[in-house]
Amino acid sequence: MSATIIDGKAFAARVREKVAQHVTRLKEEHGVTPGLAVVLVGEDPASQVYVRSKGKQTVEVGMKSVEHKLDADTSEADLLALVDQLNDDPEIHGILVQLPLPDHIDEDLVINSISPAKDVDGFHISNVGLLSTGQKSMVPCTPLGCLMMLRDHHGSLSGKDAVVIGRSNIVGKPMAQLLLGDSCTVTIAHSRTKDIEEVVRRADIVVAAVGRPEMVPGDWIKPGATVIDVGINRIERDGKNKLVGDVDFGSASEVAGAITPVPGGVGPMTIACLLANTLTACARANG
Ligand code: GUN
Repeated sequence: MSATIIDGKAFAARVREKVAQHVTRLKEEHGVTPGLAVVLVGEDPASQVYVRSKGKQTVEVGMKSVEHKLDADTSEADLLALVDQLNDDPEIHGILVQLPLPDHIDEDLVINSISPAKDVDGFHISNVGLLSTGQKSMVPCTPLGCLMMLRDHHGSLSGKDAVVIGRSNIVGKPMAQLLLGDSCTVTIAHSRTKDIEEVVRRADIVVAAVGRPEMVPGDWIKPGATVIDVGINRIERDGKNKLVGDVDFGSASEVAGAITPVPGGVGPMTIACLLANTLTACARANG
């Protein structure tokens, strides 16, 4: 193995420590406690795990955590009413509605009903517009975590060739905007991209966010490139349940200059950035 391993777990612990220090200061100097509300509709097991983890870490950094668990058959109107109530609650600075929502609920409608100032996911159309025009916005947590690790590893990203594989609203598109904001030359590759191997092979930075287990083999990676693996895929191998990324870690780590592992790479950074966004929302609301 030749690549440097980018330790997202340790990085996330440092981010949480800084957030906790700011929370203490906000409490002492302004008498406010940042509050995060997480709304879960239904009983998707993966979502339940994420929500539990978010609540635990929110409390650990000294913030107030509120969880609303609603039945899978909750009406859209009832969910919108809850979001309205949270929008008006002065003790809540961040609102996260866990996705995916059940099919009978219009996801875009719900996301866009969250006050943009409390939209700690950065999914509201106002925040998407602000990010794409380079203005101050709430930045989606997973891409923000990737950017922090890339900046930490490289210093300046200016002029680097970056390829983002995947075009989701949650990761791919905002990731591309952030890299462009840091003056990378950015390509978004996706399932219809022709000669995707060649496109990836040109990149100094590869961010893989497609949700397909080990789709990117080492021989697609330019020697020395930095690989950020956003994928968290559960597979069966040798009779065991295993978590793997979108990149084949074994072969890619022989070629890359630096790589994030799965687990322990991007994953822990997502919640750390959610806490950082909640702190930012609270600080903006108070001053
Ligand atoms: N489901 C999977 N990832 C996310 C995320 O970052 N935010 C929300 N709200 N739901 C998700």
